[in-house]
Amino acid sequence: MKKINNDILLGCSISANQAEGAFDVNGKGLSIAELRRYNPDLDRKDINTERKMTKEKLQEALEDDGTYVYPKKFGVDFYNRYKEDVELIANMKNDCFRTSIAWTRIFPNGDETEPNLKGLEFYDNLIDELVKNKIEPIITISHYEMPYNLVEKYGGWKNPLIIDFYLNFAKTVLERYKDKVKYWIPFNEINAANYSVWAGAGLRDDEHPQILGLSMIALNNIFIANAKTIKLGRKINSNFKFGSMVATMLSYYENTDPQLVLKAEKDQQLKIYSFFDVLHRGEYPKYTLNLFKKFDLDLKLSEEDKKIMKENTCDFVGFSYYMSGVVTENEGGLTEGNLAKTGKNKYLKENDWGWQIDPIGLRILMNRLWDRYQKPLFILENGIGYDETLLNNKVEDDYRIEYIKAHLEQLQSAVEDGVECIGYTAWSLMDIISHGTSEMTKRYGFIYVDQDNFGNGTKKRIPKKSYEWFKKVCETREL
Ligand code: BG6
Repeated sequence: MKKINNDILLGCSISANQAEGAFDVNGKGLSIAELRRYNPDLDRKDINTERKMTKEKLQEALEDDGTYVYPKKFGVDFYNRYKEDVELIANMKNDCFRTSIAWTRIFPNGDETEPNLKGLEFYDNLIDELVKNKIEPIITISHYEMPYNLVEKYGGWKNPLIIDFYLNFAKTVLERYKDKVKYWIPFNEINAANYSVWAGAGLRDDEHPQILGLSMIALNNIFIANAKTIKLGRKINSNFKFGSMVATMLSYYENTDPQLVLKAEKDQQLKIYSFFDVLHRGEYPKYTLNLFKKFDLDLKLSEEDKKIMKENTCDFVGFSYYMSGVVTENEGGLTEGNLAKTGKNKYLKENDWGWQIDPIGLRILMNRLWDRYQKPLFILENGIGYDETLLNNKVEDDYRIEYIKAHLEQLQSAVEDGVECIGYTAWSLMDIISHGTSEMTKRYGFIYVDQDNFGNGTKKRIPKKSYEWFKKVCETREL
């Protein structure tokens, strides 16, 4: 039986927009997340279409005439139940807890100069409650929830003005929690700016025929904001540890045809290394610069910005890992991924949404990331979504135990290979609204939440079988 090293932080993860609800109380402004609808006719194997934001969908969301529900408006009531939820975390013996600070609670429109104190009060209380219970808070500053006003008025992250608005927000929270929070994630899944442009960059998928080109401009602004936040943060508290995150999907070769091997290598460069490299080496790799040229983009990267990016790289390699994929020539053999479609792997099982389960892939990836960057790794998200119902007031989620156990075993094996790892936060603490599909039925939690896709239910929290299992792992470190 394997044991997880004692110095690896173990805990769970959520985000503000998927859990808090209370979208319009105490001065909170509207965020882009709350404009993502739940579509009951959703095709589970085609979430990439559903998550695209178009002019029509946006108009419909702003009118919100009752045709659809917008579940990130109500979340799972974490805003009102945070004390009960923190008690559940403490009882699960977790070392840490990761969540985000909703930008729109602090700067409702994003472009104010002074923060909304009522919004800050919620996070004062939440963070105090965590600290009181000896749970290390891990804070994401931006998790797919920018103020909608910044999209409407300024066009989202493609506009460099957003950098200063973001920095004002980041400075406010870094200063306020400087003695209580050590680990900061300036951006959740930074590569989403390219693959899920609404969530990651505040761009509509139909706003430009070459949306990838536009999203690269946005991404450049996000990278500058990331480096400036680190620079600022280090002045506020030199003990802060920063790690903006990349959503990873390991790509295997379909066979040994060198053409396909090359294609898979290029795929990894584009999907993950091009982002990690900027965050950890402080500059764009040549192939990204070539892409900028290909799209005829004006990078607007001044010598000063280049210097800031070079001097302010992240302290730890933060990433999410859910699945792996295969680079294939066979367009018919594709399955849905958390970022983009990928090839099916006949050796792997998948869940109902087509996400392929691959614990060994985590070990491979950890080794590659460690070899490449030589910085400690933090697995900030890992978990599995299932459609679950209560049976005699219980959820016997052995498949989740199997999934998390297998990934933790591979994590520990990677550590034995020589990789340095500082933490693992499973996705997610309790069932929350799905990011990609805004449904409730894609449940990831160790704790069941009594709520359906339309927000009906008591919202009661009921620990699943996996909750007791994870508690034991945190207590004994035994898998
Ligand atoms: C990550 C996001 O992409 O994956 C989370 O950071 C998200 O916000 C998680 O919830 C799982 O994705 P989904 O779409 O199944 O909720």
